Amino acid sequence: MPDPDLGERVCACVAVSDGVPPPTPAQLTTYLRDERRLEPRELPEHYLVLPELPLGPTGKVCAATLVRMAAESAVPARPVPHAPPTEETSVPPTTETPARRVGPTGTVVATDIKPERIPDEPGLEIRRHDIVRDPLPEAEFDLVHARLVLLHLPERVAVLDRLVRALKPGGVLQLDEFDITYGPALLMPDPAARRLYETFLAAKIRLMTRAGADVAWGRNAPAAMRAAGLTGIDPRPRLDLWTADSPGVHLISHHTRHLRDRFVEEGMTDRQLADVRTLLADPGFRATSCVMYSVQGRRPVAAG
Ligand SMILES: C[S@@+](CC[C@H](N)C(=O)[O-])C[C@H]1O[C@@H](n2cnc3c(N)ncnc32)[C@H](O)[C@@H]1O
Repeated sequence: MPDPDLGERVCACVAVSDGVPPPTPAQLTTYLRDERRLEPRELPEHYLVLPELPLGPTGKVCAATLVRMAAESAVPARPVPHAPPTEETSVPPTTETPARRVGPTGTVVATDIKPERIPDEPGLEIRRHDIVRDPLPEAEFDLVHARLVLLHLPERVAVLDRLVRALKPGGVLQLDEFDITYGPALLMPDPAARRLYETFLAAKIRLMTRAGADVAWGRNAPAAMRAAGLTGIDPRPRLDLWTADSPGVHLISHHTRHLRDRFVEEGMTDRQLADVRTLLADPGFRATSCVMYSVQGRRPVAAG
């Protein structure tokens, strides 16, 4: 289903059989993870129960109708995912939300300047909070996790210092951030399409930089975290193959519309942006994703 930030999110649409109660989102997630072996990133973040699936004129499930119904009525299946902890990180892999994992004696606070999209759940305290300007308690948290926020903030280094100070001594900070400077085209329909893709990526880098982003923040974060006093810095880069079906490709296609004016300021025409959308929808499109870095660091126990 469409998502304003990521382009798309996964929604499970469940049609119930007569007399059989639908699974809860947690039961469905457990089944998909443990029985069907879905990757964490493939698990549903939204959930919609229907009496039956909508069919098109040919008798097949009508995906467009389902997407519309999901956009109107789906409920969150779990909080907006933070970077899926992988088996290599020191955070154990799980689809349990942080609020469930801390148990009855712990607390989890989720913040954003626009917190409306953070799904509510027991044990989760949601606060509207500007990480640049609003007060932040010191030495309060065992774990602080931020995904794809500092990249956009011109004040990212000062914010990083604040996040470090918000950790208890011994606490862990995890940043999940993109480096969008790497993402080569692999297979394009023709050389002109390759040039267009590269022109588009270069314009995106320029417009984000102009807006104050550090487009390579993912690769810069480990050194910045060390400079901020964290120890045991553990950077984990990840990249994927991008095809026309990839959520990341839907996201950059979405950029051609919601960032249209800024692409035009960077010299792209509406014709080129339309051609980029056509290219990104081409079944033969193959590119390397940008790089996502998950970086952990620990606040020293004895020092500042
Ligand atoms: C790319 S989205 C990432 C959302 C979410 N962290 C995730 O990974 O799904 C960037 C988020 O940063 C939030 N944001 C931007 N400036 C902020 C600020 N000064 N303080 C707190 N949140 C901010 C935006 O509202 C938006 O939700």
